[in-house]
Amino acid sequence: MIKKFTRRETLIGVSSTLLLPACSQIGIAPDAASDAAFLHGIASGDPDTTSVVIWTRVSRAKEPVDVGWRMATDSDFRNVVARGVFTTDASRDHTVKVVVEELHPGRDYFYRFEAGGVRSSVGQTKTLPVGHVERLVLAVATCSNYAFGYFNAYEVIANDPSIDLVVHLGDYIYEHGIDGYGGETGQRIGRNHEPPHEAITLDDYRQRFAQYKTDVGSKVMHARHPLIVIWDDHETANNPWMGGAQNHQAGEGDWETRRAQSLQAYYEWLPVRDPREGGTREEYWRHYKIGDLASLITLETRHTGRSKQIEYEDYRDVIKTEADAKEFIDTVVGAPDRHMLSSAMKKFLADELAESVQANRRWRIIGNQSVMAKRMAPNLSDPFFERLRPDLSEDAGNLLDGLTLLGDLGLPLDLDSWNGYPDARENFYQISKNAGARDLLVLAGDSHSYWQDALYDNAGESMGVELGATGITSPRSMVSFGQEGLRRFDQLNAANNKEVVWTDGHYRGFIRLEIDHDGAHADYVTVTNVESRDYAVKIVHSAEIESRDGTLRYV
Ligand SMILES: [Fe+2]
Repeated sequence: MIKKFTRRETLIGVSSTLLLPACSQIGIAPDAASDAAFLHGIASGDPDTTSVVIWTRVSRAKEPVDVGWRMATDSDFRNVVARGVFTTDASRDHTVKVVVEELHPGRDYFYRFEAGGVRSSVGQTKTLPVGHVERLVLAVATCSNYAFGYFNAYEVIANDPSIDLVVHLGDYIYEHGIDGYGGETGQRIGRNHEPPHEAITLDDYRQRFAQYKTDVGSKVMHARHPLIVIWDDHETANNPWMGGAQNHQAGEGDWETRRAQSLQAYYEWLPVRDPREGGTREEYWRHYKIGDLASLITLETRHTGRSKQIEYEDYRDVIKTEADAKEFIDTVVGAPDRHMLSSAMKKFLADELAESVQANRRWRIIGNQSVMAKRMAPNLSDPFFERLRPDLSEDAGNLLDGLTLLGDLGLPLDLDSWNGYPDARENFYQISKNAGARDLLVLAGDSHSYWQDALYDNAGESMGVELGATGITSPRSMVSFGQEGLRRFDQLNAANNKEVVWTDGHYRGFIRLEIDHDGAHADYVTVTNVESRDYAVKIVHSAEIESRDGTLRYV
């Protein structure tokens, strides 16, 4: 079991480099018999106060197949509170998804499935609480690329019984083929993507989800904790927007069809509720109310409102000086018609933030895909990098040159995150302020790096804080600078950016976020290895957050 750090222990300086052995004994391990019928495990998620989604997939099924399910208040199923039969077939890839209703708030439940006389493993889940809630513990995960390694961090999450909910911020799968991102590592460690080509069709995405769900860490995490999940880009294709994606090219068919098929597979393979009557699959946002303690509002930033990303490549000949760069940011990147959120998403955000403030919940957490803090490329015209440059590979050298140029010109690190949509970010802050919420605890994925950020609007008014999770397996691209190079890059990144308190791209892992009515404590929990199942667990950084006078600050 991972050691649980209390706030007090961290303050008095318990080692932040505690090493724990890999957990080989797993409480909820699938047995051989259930593996035959339920190769992809079981899962639960998308809870509210009286219902939760339970999920499985029947392997090697003759169709149609009747799958029995039951839910109980005990793991021996002596007190069964709900049961039923779900008939599945090839039209939904033999997945099973049941919204179990009429449950009690804030209760633990156990569930299992049965098909053809074979029982699944037993899963554990819970409903959201009502009334006074003392404490909430979230595991914040993102960027789980099968080819880059084993989902060991998922196993660490599974083995922490204090976790209430797993919040996955997207890039749950990646679309690339074996000749793409992660392909070399996948070849080396025996985790080649299936199918071997880039996922484009419904069948491709189904196969990709199926492969990811064979990982042992994935199986135990989903069996142990309920999931709240949002998508980022790679569930469909790299850097999508309303009308296409960076990784959707000619010859890969119609974009709308690809997006629809990727989202069909998403809804089939994850424990999320189907769209409400009259809604679309793309309109995927939620407000999870955790008693009087917290609101967790999730965003959709890819398929319903986003304008096309600006590419530096297209402005290479125009931006020669810092003045050119400033004009480019003000007029091109910052154009007011460039959106991140749809009007329906914005209305939902405004209404639900106002409801949260009115209900006097202590915390307002935003489940968000990409990093929100304002981050300019750091100044890399630094003797360290001059010394490093000759030792770098050609690709790493080109990356360093590109980043150095961005830093010299005073441009943002990337334009796919909120950095590329500054007007939309300011609008997001304005919506929050209008709702009476300047105490946002924003969670971010996507960057393959840890972040501890402070958020400000353009007037310099504090809007809250941001905690960014690194990849479960996906690496930071600057890893090609070597360990010292990456560390120096991160140091300069924090030093050069007012909103960045700390960042580190060296590690793979997740954030364990514990909140109560006094404060929040975030541990940045890492695994020491993802390329084999042999790993240890290490906490590399912690942050304390205080909520006072309607805003948040680090203490
Ligand atoms: Fe990612």
